[in-house]
Amino acid sequence: MMNQILFVDDEQKILDGLRRNLRSMRDQWTMMFACGGEEALTMMEGAAVDVIVSDMRMPGMDGAELLRQVQQRHPHVIRVILSGQSDKEMVLESIGSTHLFLSKPCEKEALQATIERACALRAILQDKGLRALVGRMRSIPSMPKLYAEIKSLVESDQWSLKEVGQIISRDVGMTARVLQVVNSAYFGTAENISTIEQAVNFLGVDVIESLALSEHVFSKCSDELVEMFPIDRLWLEGAGTGTLAREIARAEQRPLVEVEQAFIAGLLHDTGILMFAINHSRRYRAVLDKAQAQQRKITEVEQKEFNSSHAEVGAYLLGLWGVSEAIVEAVALHHRPGDSGGTGFTPLTAVHAADVLYQEVAGAIIDCPPSLLDMAYLERANVADRVPQWRELASQLIQEVKS
Ligand SMILES: [Fe+2]
Ligand SMILES: [Fe+2]
Repeated sequence: MMNQILFVDDEQKILDGLRRNLRSMRDQWTMMFACGGEEALTMMEGAAVDVIVSDMRMPGMDGAELLRQVQQRHPHVIRVILSGQSDKEMVLESIGSTHLFLSKPCEKEALQATIERACALRAILQDKGLRALVGRMRSIPSMPKLYAEIKSLVESDQWSLKEVGQIISRDVGMTARVLQVVNSAYFGTAENISTIEQAVNFLGVDVIESLALSEHVFSKCSDELVEMFPIDRLWLEGAGTGTLAREIARAEQRPLVEVEQAFIAGLLHDTGILMFAINHSRRYRAVLDKAQAQQRKITEVEQKEFNSSHAEVGAYLLGLWGVSEAIVEAVALHHRPGDSGGTGFTPLTAVHAADVLYQEVAGAIIDCPPSLLDMAYLERANVADRVPQWRELASQLIQEVKS
């Protein structure tokens, strides 16, 4: 089926230009054009729109408001905003309700590539309910302690980007957001940035500051959620897995970029669990209880209940945000690396191994059958004989944490 793309602008001239420019995409997309937010919302009532691309500055309902409404009414639609360089504030404010950002003037190629990426990602998650679940996500909450830490650091006026980078890279929610912002075409990165330090340097003081201080961007976990789920342990496991994945990649003498990608992917590998927990607390608590009672794998029970596991859900969100492919792949396949088709060592290899080995030494959070190493996959990647050494790294790591 063809994807339906809806373009929104308050100027008819611009819409006509888009229509002319994108004529070559007619066989792949059904394109619709709305003059202003109200008209867009009306059109969406009667059509199954897949992607909406809206201008930011419009009289009456602006782009940010339009996308907020679309998020509420049609959460499964992928939301893209086009904005000028002077709209920085608005961009940061709308980050919770926008998936992808493009800067004006926008080259046809960039626009096309962004829409194509959005459509490709939609194909990963076939289930509409699940797409809606991800589409509704405003942010991944941050660890309460770290949120407070970064806030007081930034408010103290005495801080360096390096320090901020260090705190951010210990936190799942903040890391994910910073990567989203830095990889958005709005900020004009030509290449994917995948280390936190690069990201912090690139974005600069003012953006990091408003990110850190903005309630729109980082939300805190409710007490209820903390009571229902071992949230703190989940964060610790993310941090532990990320650190171990980095050490493993380093031990394999991978290039620095890959070492950092392994770290970030490890940190974020179970983001999908947080998303389930936040958006479907009761249902997800029941999934965990069932896995425990029947001694089944969590991914298996998730699959049954939600039609998808935490691995795909997390990867989908990160992919939407424009996080680099190697990271998205590692998150998506950390429980079934054999599906990657790859035959060499990649960040996925590091994350898969780190996830299993870290649990071996740190213990599982939920009492159900642990994931095992996929030895056939490791064999193919030519690293099966490295496992004892990696296991050694894991026990060193846990010793350091304990001391
Ligand atoms: Fe997992
Ligand atoms: Fe895990």
